[in-house]
Amino acid sequence: MKIRENVNLSELTTMRLGGPTDFLIEIDTPEEISDAVEFAEEKNLPVYFLGAGANVIGLDEGFPGIIIKNNIKGFKILRENKNQLLLKVGGGEIWDDFVEFVSKKGYSGVEAMSKIPGTVGAAPVQNIGAYGQEVKDTLVSVEAFDTLIDEFIEIPASKMDFSYRHSIFNSGKDKGRYFILTCTFRLDKKNPEPPFYKSLQSYLDEHKISAYTPETIRDAVSNIRAEKLPDPKKIPSAGSFFKNIYLDASSAKLAEEKGVPIRKTEKLDASGKKYIEYKVNTGWLLENAGLKGKTFHGFKVSDKAALILINESATSSKDLELAKQEITDQVKKKFGLTLEQEPVEIKEEKPETNKVQKEDIS
Ligand code: EPU
Repeated sequence: MKIRENVNLSELTTMRLGGPTDFLIEIDTPEEISDAVEFAEEKNLPVYFLGAGANVIGLDEGFPGIIIKNNIKGFKILRENKNQLLLKVGGGEIWDDFVEFVSKKGYSGVEAMSKIPGTVGAAPVQNIGAYGQEVKDTLVSVEAFDTLIDEFIEIPASKMDFSYRHSIFNSGKDKGRYFILTCTFRLDKKNPEPPFYKSLQSYLDEHKISAYTPETIRDAVSNIRAEKLPDPKKIPSAGSFFKNIYLDASSAKLAEEKGVPIRKTEKLDASGKKYIEYKVNTGWLLENAGLKGKTFHGFKVSDKAALILINESATSSKDLELAKQEITDQVKKKFGLTLEQEPVEIKEEKPETNKVQKEDIS
């Protein structure tokens, strides 16, 4: 366990914002998490668990507490046969190293999520997804440290309440409760099959790629991303800054009346019942509100992919707040829809309903 004092969050996050944290602890093995939590309890300081800092925003006030950075590495094959691979991956591994490893071995399930910045351990938190795949589709379970009972536990994916950019780890009563240490995935030995995500299919057609293997799809996605999305190592951003929007039938009708294209897809819910999903591309809203390529308080709405806010010159999270407000207001005025921020702010994580439950009891 490595401890550093007074580290700026701007150093730890790809958006390059944020004041200091009291302590930064890096853990290299699952066992070290209990030492880190004990250290925090002795000092009576809150803790925040961080991966690569690619989907979080540091605030000007910093984090008065302890940031624990997951540096647990390793790939462990639990089972491999001609159809499937069961693989346990250290939460501190770089996500794309994992995608490369399995795609090269000819296993399918995560290749469309090539080049997503961040770590493996952070992937289930917001159920990362791209080009038609989501983590929830291949994740089997995670090993976690449960800070409520100070014990190591295993959580099956079926208990993670996954949906678009959502899980028990980033919402509800268990928000902030678990530190994900390792993730286990099940991948299939097979080639990816169409239908593919629209822009992926266009790329494949344009480049006359018809042999669909995990590696060819990985290459295609990597090339599309390289053209459109800024490399966080060189250009500060937190990936998509706004979420896409899912509406109910009546809000979708209202949005359609304002000229917003709605993508309707038939889906099955957890109980197998059919329902219609109404999706709005927030990139379309930003572009058609005339915001693409414009700069607000030092943040540019990317002219290649409008969901991305690029930090061109800002050093304060207050400027980000102002930029967000202006962008959100303009979209609301034009289309009547409210944008939601995708990356999370680094602050003490509290369960979202415990307080209410306690009040109910008293
Ligand atoms: N669009 C525009 N203008 C734009 C961008 C998008 O009109 O500037 C419309 C187009 O109709 C386009 C559609 O939105 O066909 C979808 O755009 P794109 O495929 O570029 O993806 P996205 O919706 O902007 C989401 C994810 C990305 C992920 C891509 C590809 C979210 C918040 N973002 O973006 O994930 O790479 O799909 O699957 O869901 C991230 O989460 O950080 C991220 C980069």
